[in-house]
Amino acid sequence: MEAVRVTERAAIAAARLRGRGDEKAADDAAVAAMRTELDRLPIRGTVVIGAGERDETPTLYLGETLGGGEGPEVDIAVRPLEGATVCAKNLPNALSVIAVADKGSLLFAPNIYMQKIAIGPGYPAGLVDIDAPAEDNIRSLARAKGVPVGEITACILDRPRHSRLIEAVRATGAAIRLIGDGDVAGIIHTTEPEETGVDIYLGSGGAPEGVLAAAALRCIGGQMQGRLIFDTQEKRALGARTGIADFDRVYGVEDMAKGDVLFAATGVTDGNLLSGVRFGRTAIATDTIVLRSSSRTVREIRARHKDLERV
Ligand code: FBP
Repeated sequence: MEAVRVTERAAIAAARLRGRGDEKAADDAAVAAMRTELDRLPIRGTVVIGAGERDETPTLYLGETLGGGEGPEVDIAVRPLEGATVCAKNLPNALSVIAVADKGSLLFAPNIYMQKIAIGPGYPAGLVDIDAPAEDNIRSLARAKGVPVGEITACILDRPRHSRLIEAVRATGAAIRLIGDGDVAGIIHTTEPEETGVDIYLGSGGAPEGVLAAAALRCIGGQMQGRLIFDTQEKRALGARTGIADFDRVYGVEDMAKGDVLFAATGVTDGNLLSGVRFGRTAIATDTIVLRSSSRTVREIRARHKDLERV
């Protein structure tokens, strides 16, 4: 439960800067708030996904040790503000996110792109395949869901690099939800298609976000495949330094997040699954989901923070 406080505080800090057009200020505020709360946790944590390399950021850098110094040794993956750009524009689905897992359980993903495909729970294993044409994956999903292809919606990041993918998906008759940013939310949305209207996630985005999304699916269920994109010599060198031997490897959910995983996300701006932070005269309200792989529990926590000084 202490992990909830971490994302709540970071979300509140970022939300104070919603819609101000300053993504860096919102991100910095979230990082600082998250760092303070992380040190209160009774863990010995190592940052495996954070704010950057040691020489890029003063805090939450990769390999940094965090926590109260007692308790279990764990991996910590964070995005204090996932969707800094959408937060700066006050658009939907900015989140504050953390995943905590047994030490050595989360993929140490370099900050490069990852090709991703994800669907929600309840489908046969291997129904979709990252190497199959998008059209085939959409058709297989429609068949398994028992609906016409026209009733399938794919979530894709709105980027020029996805123009061919978008064309191919539209040619099947499926709908696309184009998102400006925030593919952790995009992937989580596939787990609740009735709530979110999203059946499948396709395309490339950040590898760290891929691991965080896999941590969430590990707890809720659902399928995901990811392949790191080593398209330059520099990235291959980075991959080798991070201990990656097979540059073409396809990672499944368990390859990215194994062991006992806990995932928490608090809404910063309003979204399909979580409401954003609401500032009232006497309290601040937050909306968080907390997921645990070992019990498969999904907790939805709507909190009212009355001690306005502290938050
Ligand atoms: P922010 O940097 O604004 O937080 O955006 C995060 C994000 O949209 C991720 O969700 C996504 O994986 C990645 O950026 C996509 O990267 P790019 O913007 O380079 O396509």
